[in-house]
Amino acid sequence: MNQHVPVITIDGPSASGKGTVAQRVAAVLGFHYLDSGALYRLTALAAQYRRVNWKDEPFVAEIAAGIDVIFEGERVLLAGNDVSLAIRSEEMGVGASTVAALPAVRVALLERQRAFAQKPGLLADGRDMGSVVFPQAPLKIFLTATAAVRAERRYKQLIARGEPADLAAITAELEARDERDRVRAVAPLQQLPDALLLETSNLTIEQAVAQVLAWWQARMPK
Ligand code: DC
Repeated sequence: MNQHVPVITIDGPSASGKGTVAQRVAAVLGFHYLDSGALYRLTALAAQYRRVNWKDEPFVAEIAAGIDVIFEGERVLLAGNDVSLAIRSEEMGVGASTVAALPAVRVALLERQRAFAQKPGLLADGRDMGSVVFPQAPLKIFLTATAAVRAERRYKQLIARGEPADLAAITAELEARDERDRVRAVAPLQQLPDALLLETSNLTIEQAVAQVLAWWQARMPK
């Protein structure tokens, strides 16, 4: 891991909006961006293509270690194929959360995630960015919102895309996923004592971005 590259970590539950906030902050600062959840989603998708069960730890870890991925702006290529939409499905959300509970899979993805720390800096979002992957990051944020607000955001996103959406089902699925991510034995979702809490239930995206930038400016050497 390159100790000299500044890293900002944003961890939090699903549909909290952390990806959007992280991408915007990265764009303002000119930093690279790591969507670590995409790596777990890609692992689940690659396992499905190869008909490997998501709970088959040795096989799924092997797939994770060998995953051939290219991030091209908004596009995600798996073995040269555009899977940007495929990895965003609810099914791959469940798959990602399932494979993410396997310790060998997390180990397989660790160095790959650390390799994203390149100059001039990195904005990394996920569940264990501050606790496991970049424990030395100078700014760690725990970004969240209530389950009701997150479900509502996900619902509006689906409707805007013209996809069918059921608010009650989305809320239930979000709560189940939060629970799986929180209670698992390895790298559970948690707010670290050294992470700043950003509660976004009553904030716009712009306000959340401005808060992260203000914290970052306050931490930069003058
Ligand atoms: O952020 P997301 O919804 O794309 O993440 C999908 C799943 O991957 C999520 O349920 C938990 C898992 N994940 C993880 O365990 N660790 C990370 N750093 C990122 C995601």
